[in-house]
Amino acid sequence: MSANPDAWTDAASLDELADDDVTGLEVAGRDIAIYKVEGGVFATDNTCTHGQARLCDGFLEGHEIECPLHQGKFDVRDGRATCAPVTEALRCYPVRVEGGRVLLNLAG
Ligand code: FES
Repeated sequence: MSANPDAWTDAASLDELADDDVTGLEVAGRDIAIYKVEGGVFATDNTCTHGQARLCDGFLEGHEIECPLHQGKFDVRDGRATCAPVTEALRCYPVRVEGGRVLLNLAG
């Protein structure tokens, strides 16, 4: 799916995101998890696809986020489920960094 070029939303300052960590943010009314990993920035839905748990309360190791509730895991680069009990992928959003700001394409 290609991103809608008109749908970029300012989400955060790059400086306020901790390195190699996950941050939960409300962006345009949506609960979003933003990950800053090895110089890259990635964004996904913040709610686990297995249950009502916020991934920003989980544990990030490399590009993998572990859900705090049942320890399912996702790859934050593409949302792929990588460890049971999760089987359904997370929704991911395209990210752009411009002038120190992190922009998300929520329609992407
Ligand atoms: Fe996330 Fe169960 S709620 S693994």
